[in-house]
Amino acid sequence: MKSEMENDILKVLITEEELQRRIGELGGALYERFQGKRPLFLGVLKGSFVFMADLVRACQLRSDVEFIAVSSYENATASSGRVKINHDLQQDITGRDLIIVEDILDSGNTLAFLKDYFLTKGAASITIVALLDKPSRRTKAIDADFAGFEVPNEFVVGYGLDYCQHYRNIPYIGVLKPEVYAD
Ligand code: PRP
Repeated sequence: MKSEMENDILKVLITEEELQRRIGELGGALYERFQGKRPLFLGVLKGSFVFMADLVRACQLRSDVEFIAVSSYENATASSGRVKINHDLQQDITGRDLIIVEDILDSGNTLAFLKDYFLTKGAASITIVALLDKPSRRTKAIDADFAGFEVPNEFVVGYGLDYCQHYRNIPYIGVLKPEVYAD
């Protein structure tokens, strides 16, 4: 049965089954890439928490998990692409092979910033995994090494992605009805 929250969803873009099948493929590809190494899965909060949970289980490597929480500055400097760290790394990443786990790669501001940040912290290598990729919105020259799905420029929510902190717990990727975010 449809929940009350789902009345705000215009259409389902990616079903739970499609998500799990693709995440299985991504997990397999990462397993191949990192066999014999011990990578550090690094989730970018908050959006990545659902994807992270499924991805690490789809990739049965000996590995560790870590998180960082960031947000774009919500003032006049937002357009400059500056990113604020709300919760920093809790461990030394010197010499580690990082697998950055993102729910969506949009303008690229967040990942461009994080890539530089992690390199200055001494990461040995950086591999970017983004569940969703919106290349039409890119303003920074950055790409995912592994992307789950390319999505059109629509307002997507669910599976970790929010609008005003809501809808993260919807189990699929949906498009939000325009009237929900209209002024
Ligand atoms: C979203 C998403 C990425 C970022 C992508 O995070 O989780 O981190 O935006 O956009 P970009 O490529 O334009 O930088 P958001 O700032 O909405 O925070 P959240 O993860 O806490 O929802």
